[in-house]
Amino acid sequence: MIEIAPRTFQVEGRDEADRALANEIVVLVRAKPDLVLGLATGTTPVGVYRELVRLVGTGELDLARVRTFNLDEYLGLERNDPAAFRARMQAMLFGPARIPLARTDLPACDVQRKGEAAECERYERAIEAAGGIDLQLLGIGRNGHIGFNEPGSERATRTRIVELDATTREDAAAAFGGLERVPRRAITVGIATILAARRLRVLAFGPHKASIVRATLEGPICTAVPASFLREHSDVEFWLDRDAARELVRVPSNRV
Ligand code: GLP
Repeated sequence: MIEIAPRTFQVEGRDEADRALANEIVVLVRAKPDLVLGLATGTTPVGVYRELVRLVGTGELDLARVRTFNLDEYLGLERNDPAAFRARMQAMLFGPARIPLARTDLPACDVQRKGEAAECERYERAIEAAGGIDLQLLGIGRNGHIGFNEPGSERATRTRIVELDATTREDAAAAFGGLERVPRRAITVGIATILAARRLRVLAFGPHKASIVRATLEGPICTAVPASFLREHSDVEFWLDRDAARELVRVPSNRV
């Protein structure tokens, strides 16, 4: 692992980043067993979750007392739809890492229209009542979104209902078995909600993330690239593999 720019780490393989972040969580949970974790979905964090599950299995980590809050959830799905983020998190992390259901939270995917505003309010309050997020894991969407804060999202946004971008829906099509089945709306925490976390750990892997990583780290901080706001946080780290870092121009080692 090399620090290619302040708070920006380039790893040889993504498993190096997975282990580093899982180990940071181990240290934090030992100091504070009821750590409040902010979790993300997508393919990017799956290696960190796999490593956490392994560490729980070997007895090096106990996640039974942590609290978890996910960034976002699709709207308009049945509560037990296997494509909902709730179901995916249960299968990938909560179940195998033995995190009690009652200690996990995501926005509801099956809330009725008239209850949507109340659900957003509930979620913000629940994060606050837990004492705020200690460590937030994040991936970056191809269009620069964080959570489901699509381009155009303001820095001051809080948990709310959003319409999903075309690229976001295309990227989700495989998981739903076709574009027409991908929900058009979602609930996401806001950019201000994310920036209120005490630590932000951002992961990006693969050549398809190279141009958005460059825009995130080296472009203007603006609503067109919501991930660029992450640079304003005082304890943020970006973990990139070589492919995701390859378009960075301010990093001499990537010019060759
Ligand atoms: C999804 C999630 C985001 C995630 C992004 C990137 O839409 N809502 O939180 O960061 O997609 O996905 P992936 O990690 O699969 O590239």
